[in-house]
Amino acid sequence: MIRTSDIANGIQTSFTRHLFNLAKQYDDVIDFTLGDPDVQPHQAIKDAACAAIQQGKTRYSQNAGLLELRQTIHDYYLRKEGLSYTPENEIQVSVGAMEGLYLALLAMLNPGDEVIIPAPYYVNYTQMVAMCHAVPVIVDNPEVKDLHYRLEDIAAAITPKTRAIMINTPGNPTGVVLSQELLHGIADLAIKHDLVVISDEVYKCLVYNATEWKSIASFEGMRERTVIVNSLSKEFCMTGYRIGYVLGPSEVITSMTKLQENVAACAPLPSQYAAIEALGSKEDYSKDMVAIFTERKNCIVEGIQSIEGLSCLPPDATFYLMVDITKTGMTSVDFAMELLKAVHVAVVPGITYGKCCDNYIRIAFTRELDYIREGVRRINQFMKSLSL
Ligand SMILES: Cc1ncc(COP(=O)(O)O)c(C=O)c1O
Repeated sequence: MIRTSDIANGIQTSFTRHLFNLAKQYDDVIDFTLGDPDVQPHQAIKDAACAAIQQGKTRYSQNAGLLELRQTIHDYYLRKEGLSYTPENEIQVSVGAMEGLYLALLAMLNPGDEVIIPAPYYVNYTQMVAMCHAVPVIVDNPEVKDLHYRLEDIAAAITPKTRAIMINTPGNPTGVVLSQELLHGIADLAIKHDLVVISDEVYKCLVYNATEWKSIASFEGMRERTVIVNSLSKEFCMTGYRIGYVLGPSEVITSMTKLQENVAACAPLPSQYAAIEALGSKEDYSKDMVAIFTERKNCIVEGIQSIEGLSCLPPDATFYLMVDITKTGMTSVDFAMELLKAVHVAVVPGITYGKCCDNYIRIAFTRELDYIREGVRRINQFMKSLSL
C-alpha cells in the first residue's frame, strides 16, 4: 500500500460534489448542485476552438499563455473595469479560475502563513490554501444569519501571520455583491496590515438590477496589493474549456509563470484561441446571459417564496439562490439528504459554506425554466410531507 501525503489525506470531497455524485443514482433527478450552466457558448467561440484544432494550433503555448490572449485580456479589463495590466508580466492565463487561484496562492504563501477566508465562502478556497502548507483562517460567525459577513470579524482574525484575505464578489454561494462600504473597510485593513487581497471576480458578469460592482483593485492603494482572478467559465458558459486568468503585480505573476511550467505547462491551446474570440470580439457574446438568468432567477425565487415554510431573498448576482430552511428545524445536511431521497432533488447543504449557513440550502438555477419549475413542484411536495 502506498502512503499518501498528509495534504491529500486532509482533503475532503465537498458536499457539492458529494450531493452531485449521489444525485447520479436517480434517473429522474433534478440536479441543482453544480454551477455549470446548460447555456452553450456563442457559435463563434466554438468555431474558434474548432478552427484552432483544424489548423494544428494544438501544441504548447508560453507558460503565461499566448501573448495575443494576454493582450486581449488587457484590453477587456481596461474596457470593462478601467484597470490596466501589462500583458508581458502582469497577466497569467490559467486552467480555469481554479488553477489561477491555486498558482496565486502557491506564489505568495510560505508554510504557516495564514489566509483569511470570510464565510460564507467558496468551498475550494480552504483546501487550496492547505495545499500550499498554509493555514486557512475561516471567519465564520454563526450569529451572522443574513449571508453578509462583518468587517469587525475579519479585523479580529488578523494576526502577525496573516498574508492575505480572499474575497469573492459577487459571491458564490450567496449571490451577494459586497457593499462598497465593506470593500473599503477590507481595503483599509489590507493597507494597514500590509496584506494581499485575492479578489475572485468570476461572477462579475452576472449582476442583476444595476447593482453597483467595482473591483477592489480600483480603490486607492489597492492595485499593488490585489490579485484578481477571473475566468471565462461563467461569463461565456465555457466551464469545460478551462480558461481562467490572473491579473496582478509583476512579482506575483512572474512567480506564477515559473510555477505554471511545473503544474500544467499552459492552458489548453484551442481553448486559448476560443478565449481570444470570446473576450476580443466587438460583439458582446455574453450579453444574453443576464437576460436568461434573470428569467430563471425570477422563476426560482417566485417558486420558493410560494412554498410554505421556506423563504429566500432574490440574489444580487450569480446563478445561486440561498433558501432559508430555518422553519423546518432541520440541519442543512439532513434537509438536503431527505429531499434527495424523498423527491429526487439535489441541492447543496449550506453548512458547506460555513456554520453561518446551516439554516440554508443552495440551489444553482443553471437549467431551463421547465426544469426549475419541476424542481420547485417537488420541493413543495417534500415540504408538505413534513407537515410543519
Ligand atoms: C467563486 C468561484 N471561483 C472560482 C470558480 C472556478 O471557476 P473555473 O471554472 O474558472 O475554474 C468557481 C466555480 O464554480 C466559483 O464559483
